[in-house]
Amino acid sequence: MTLIQRTIDGFARSYSHAPDGVTFAPGRVNLMGEHVDYNDGLVLPMPIAAGTAVAWRARPGDEICAVALDLGEARDRFKKASPEPVEPVDWRAYLRGMAAEMRAAGLPVGGAELAIAGSIPRGSGLSSSASLCVALGRALGAAAGAPDPSPDELALAAQAAEHRWAGVQCGIMDQMAIAAGTPGSALLLDCRSLATRIVPLPLGWAVMIVQSGVRRGLVDGHYNQRRRDCEAAAAVLGIPMLRDANIAMVEGAKLDETVRRRATHVVNEIARTEATIAGFERADLVAVGKAMRASHASLRDLFAVSVPAVDDLVDCLNAEIGLAGGARMTGGGFGGAVVAILEASAVTRVTAAIQKVYHSPCGDPLEIMIED
Ligand code: GLA
Repeated sequence: MTLIQRTIDGFARSYSHAPDGVTFAPGRVNLMGEHVDYNDGLVLPMPIAAGTAVAWRARPGDEICAVALDLGEARDRFKKASPEPVEPVDWRAYLRGMAAEMRAAGLPVGGAELAIAGSIPRGSGLSSSASLCVALGRALGAAAGAPDPSPDELALAAQAAEHRWAGVQCGIMDQMAIAAGTPGSALLLDCRSLATRIVPLPLGWAVMIVQSGVRRGLVDGHYNQRRRDCEAAAAVLGIPMLRDANIAMVEGAKLDETVRRRATHVVNEIARTEATIAGFERADLVAVGKAMRASHASLRDLFAVSVPAVDDLVDCLNAEIGLAGGARMTGGGFGGAVVAILEASAVTRVTAAIQKVYHSPCGDPLEIMIED
C-alpha cells in the first residue's frame, strides 16, 4: 500500500470520516556542502522519494487534533492560538511549533484534524523532522482554505519550529530542499540569499543511500557546539560568516586549534560544493567522486562528526565504486546514512558487494535506497 493510501486509511479509522485532502513532503539527502548552511554557504541537497504524508480535514474553531499513525497512534490536541511547549521534544513539538511559527509569520493556520505517517527511516540523517514540518505546514494552510505558502515562507517557519520548539539551531538547507526541490534533481541553494537552482542528475548516474545501522542519538548538543565554533571563528576573523573567509585568512588568524579545524572544513567544503556542481554540469563523475572522498575525510578529521561504522561503510563503498564516483556521510553526522554517487550501471554490482563486506553494528540487513 502506498504511503498516501495508508495515511488516508489511518485518518478514516481515527476520525470515522474521510479527510478533505493529503499533503506530502519528501525527505532529502545532501550530496555536497555539509555543515556549511549555517555559515551562509552553498549546498547541494536532493529531495528523495521517501517522505511524510499528512491527511487533513478542516474543522471549525480553534482546535488542532492530530494522530501519529506510525507512533502507536499517539494523539495530540491543542488550541492553535496557545500551543504549549513539549518536553521532552517529540513529534508534537514540531506540530505545535509549526502552527505557532506559521501564525507568527502571518501565514493562515486552520483548525484541523490531522493524521500523519512517514516513510523516512528515523535517525538516518535524511531530514525526517524537516519533512514532517513542511508536510504539516502545507496541511495547516490548506485547512485554513489558503493557497500553499511559498517555499521560502514554509522553510523559514519550519526552521523556526526546529530552533524554538526542538532546540536545534539548524541551518536552512533541509527545509529549503524539501519545500523548493523536486525529487530526482539536486538543488543548488545559496544559504545567504536563499536563491535556488535545479541541478539535474546527469543521465546514467545514480544516487545510492545506505543506512549505516547506527541511529543518530542525542546529538543536538554537539550540533549546536559546532555552530558556536564556526561563529567563534568568524568573530575572530572579523567577518559576518565563514562564507566570507578564504583559506589564507583561516591559516593566518590567531584561532584556537579546534576552531581552526572547523573553519578549514567549512571554507574547503563550500569550494567542494562549487566543484561538485561543475562536475554535474560536465557529467564528470571522477571529479565528483574526488570531492565526495575529500568531503568525508574532512568531516571525519576536521569537523569530527563521523563515527567508526559510518567511516567503515564509506570506505567499503569507495573501494567498490573506484574512481568513477564516491561516497561520504550525509546530514548532521554521528551515525545515520551514507550517500554515494555512481554510474547507474554499477548499482547492482556495488549493492551485492556491499552486502557481503559491510556488517552493520546492529546486525540488521542493509537498507539501501536508490534515487535516479
Ligand atoms: C542537519 C541540519 C542542517 C545542516 C546539516 C549538516 O541536517 O538540520 O541544517 O546543518 O545537518 O550539513
